Amino acid sequence: MKKKIALIFGVTGQDGYYLTKLLLKKNYIVHGVKRRSSSVPTKRIDIFLNQRNFKLHYGDITDFSSIQSLIKKVKPKEIYNLAAQSHVGVSFYTPLYTANVNAIGVLAILEAIKNSNNKIKFYQAGTSEMFGKVREKKQNEKTNFNPQSPYGAAKVFAHQITKNYRDAYNMFASNGILFNHESPIRGENFVTKKIISSLTKIKYGMQKNLVLGNLYAKRDWGHAKDYVEAIYKIVQKKKADDYVISTGRDYTIKEFVNKTAKILKMKLKWKGKGLHETAVDENNKIIISIDKKYFRPLEVDYLRGNSYKAKKELGWKTNLSIDDIIKEMVDFELRIINKL
Ligand code: NAP
Ligand code: GDD
Repeated sequence: MKKKIALIFGVTGQDGYYLTKLLLKKNYIVHGVKRRSSSVPTKRIDIFLNQRNFKLHYGDITDFSSIQSLIKKVKPKEIYNLAAQSHVGVSFYTPLYTANVNAIGVLAILEAIKNSNNKIKFYQAGTSEMFGKVREKKQNEKTNFNPQSPYGAAKVFAHQITKNYRDAYNMFASNGILFNHESPIRGENFVTKKIISSLTKIKYGMQKNLVLGNLYAKRDWGHAKDYVEAIYKIVQKKKADDYVISTGRDYTIKEFVNKTAKILKMKLKWKGKGLHETAVDENNKIIISIDKKYFRPLEVDYLRGNSYKAKKELGWKTNLSIDDIIKEMVDFELRIINKL
């Protein structure tokens, strides 16, 4: 049987790694797109570089000509767009850039598909950040969008334009609305990775302290490995549609810190309030403090998803709990510093 061909924008990122692994296992030929950068950006996917069914190309979703020529050359059956400036906090510092990549870049891919072969199946990496400030206890596909950042606003455009191309040009163009998902290869400046990597180093005297921002935001955290399974299932459907992917459970950043400390067998005691809140170790030494530079001009206080539709229509469910995720991430850090 002829192998399916997939093209992944954003292949060098966290989800790019897990999706490539999944598609190669399913016998796909996977073409990934990397950006030119002054240092090697392929750390996460080096493991695939010598595999016959994996090929890397230069490109950028803000460069229409590169998207067009890649589609012509690769002739994919499925295109997964995972590419984005994915940091919400950074999007306040680079709003135009973020909009150009996260909104206009998506439109560029849709245009290129429409002009070349509108039978290609397209997946757009949407986000719970599109819900933003919410009133509902759990957010689902019917919840209104109310983004609170340039990142979230650009993703709303991407979501809407994906739907528009689906309806206007009869294209298979689906949106995932994914809640936070983590893994050992999560980017260093997302809060889970920052907490786990710092506390592990603090425990072994390799770092003095950890400085955080808002401890009281709540997030619904899953594992990237489970979430790319959902992405794959969304694209295998006969009809394009939009799906919320989440665990349905939420925790504060502070609860995440406490869970990590427990797994590392560290004793933490919280003191003070607001910007003066700290956590001390058993010797009463401050190891966690707060700095307002990590607060965002606008915050998304609460996210918790309802994935009933994905369960019913995709047969998808989350397998790994928050404790499984933290344990795997802690073990990964311990191996790096030779303590496991
Ligand atoms: P990530 O690790 O930051 O990866 C982002 C990827 O996009 C990287 O490969 C990056 O390349 C690439 N990229 C950035 N700008 C690009 C451009 N102009 N052209 C081509 N590629 C570009 O993010 P992730 O966690 O894997 O997330 C994947 C996608 O899901 C993103 O769109 C993100 O917004 C969305 N999402 C993520 C989550 C989550 O919790 N992880 C939740 C909901 C939605 P470099 O390696 O060169 O930087
Ligand atoms: N990054 C970071 N660093 N966040 C901190 C810190 C810190 O030092 N201290 C507190 N936080 C809080 C943030 O204010 C936010 O409320 C929460 O921790 C989570 O921040 P991030 O881990 O940066 O993730 P995010 O929720 O903003 O965005 C992630 O999830 C989205 C889906 O909801 C990213 O992966 C986005 O790309 C994704 O769309």
